[in-house]
Order: sequence, then structure tokens, then C-alpha cells
Amino acid sequence: MNTKMNPIGVFDSGVGGLSVLRAMRELLPNESVIYFGDQGHVPYGPRSMEEIQKFSEGITKFLLEQNCKLIVVACNTASAAALKYLRGRFPDVQFVGMEPAVKPAAEITKTGKVGVLATPATFQGALYASVVERFGAGVEFFQHTCPGLVGQIEKGDLESSATRAILEDALLPMLEKNIDTVVLGCTHYPFVIPLIERIVGGNVRVIDPAPSVARQVGRLLEARGMTNEAEKAGRLELFTSGDAAAMEIVLLKLMGEGGKVRSVNWDDKLKITLR
Ligand code: DGL
Repeated sequence: MNTKMNPIGVFDSGVGGLSVLRAMRELLPNESVIYFGDQGHVPYGPRSMEEIQKFSEGITKFLLEQNCKLIVVACNTASAAALKYLRGRFPDVQFVGMEPAVKPAAEITKTGKVGVLATPATFQGALYASVVERFGAGVEFFQHTCPGLVGQIEKGDLESSATRAILEDALLPMLEKNIDTVVLGCTHYPFVIPLIERIVGGNVRVIDPAPSVARQVGRLLEARGMTNEAEKAGRLELFTSGDAAAMEIVLLKLMGEGGKVRSVNWDDKLKITLR
């Protein structure tokens, strides 16, 4: 049974979904959130669709056991691979997913050339092809998978020369093609926006979809009468299937606020239990 006071579940393969959480907490401060980072399986990007579906299903079950009233798939890769699957498996649950921000990019580009940074699974999924087909007419898209970038951000390494080299490999050839817009199609990447902006310079717009996802969550809660109207700030609970102490350190670095992270285990039936 959903009640207004119940938390929103947010999940990602790791810390990337915290970029969405940050936007949600700004826009919807009264909502409680349970965040799940599947750091035991990160990165999702090179994995098969079936594998990502199974992990996403296990996480959804866990979040529903914690009475979440709505689930945000704060991961482009899991959205590309599993959103449709999850909606089929849990028809009564409200999901909000991510899709690469091709539409706003196509609306604002003047050169008609747009760079898209996302994981291999996101580019392979039907969702990406469908947004490009629906909204990308007349625009040329340059894709790059930024190998290793998710791992750097998982370590909280946002500024090193290694992180910069990965981004330069992706962005410099795009700049030569005259792009004026970059779409961040992976929720980890907003954490390196300052570095991206230093590489691309002031004439290139960088699109972080997190604020629009937060607005979508707000609209959906309102439409379903599920908005938490309590006056006090919502609580935040964090879980990882990886190392809780390590995530606490990265959390502080990425969010500028600390928090207690609890560890969970996956069992051999892909069920999650508290450690
Ligand atoms: N944060 C992710 C995304 O939005 C997943 C990165 C990964 O695990 O490869 O795509």
C-alpha cells in the first residue's frame, strides 16, 4: 500500500544515481529517499541486457520490500536495458527512468552537431535508437562510450590527468566536428561537468538531465496524489552491494554531505539481503 510518507527508491549501478538524487533533494526536499548503488556489479555498461534486467529486478524487489512508493531508475544503462522489462514484471509500480537528452539537445544546437557520452549498453539499447529517430531529425550525433570513466568517478577521481585523458579522447574529436552541445547520457558523468566544461570551453552547452528527471518525479507524485506534504525534510537511507566505508568517502566528495551507508549481499538466487 502506498502512502504519501513512504520513501522513493532510487537506484544505479553505483554512485552515478547520486546526481539524480541531488536534483531530487533540491526540488523535493520533503521526500524520503532510499538509494541503492549496485557497486558489487558496477559497471553495468559492458554487461548483457539480460544480466542488467536481473540485477534491476532484484533491486526493485528490495526497494519494494522497503515500501518505496515510486522507483527512479537513476541509471541510463539500466533504463535502456531494463525499464520496459521492469514495467512488465511490476505492472502496479510507478517507475521513472532516464533517456539520453537528445530532444533538448536537438532543440538548442545551432551547428546541428551534438556529442553524446554514454555506456555501450545505452547505445545498443532500443531506447537510444528510438529517441534519435523521434527527435534527432537533421542533427548529426557523435557517440562515445568513455571507457574507464565510470570507474574513475566510482573512486571519486574527478580531476586527475587520467580522468581528463578519458574525456579528451571522447571530446576533442567531437570538437573538431564542430559540436556545440554535449549530452550526458550516463548519470555518473554530471560529476565531471567542471572538467568537461574546461575541455570544451564556453561555447559548448553540456546537458545534465537530472533536473528534468526530478521534475518528472514531482509531476508523477502529484498526479498520483503521492506527494509527501509533511513539513520536515525527508530522510535519506543509502545501501550498497559493495564496500560501505568506501562509498561513504566518495559520497562526501560527490555530494558535499556525509551519510551512513549500509551494505547488502546478493544471494545466489539474485535476492538482496541486509548484511
Ligand atoms: N550510471 C550509469 C548510467 O547512467 C551506469 C554506468 C555503468 O555502470 O556502466 O548509465
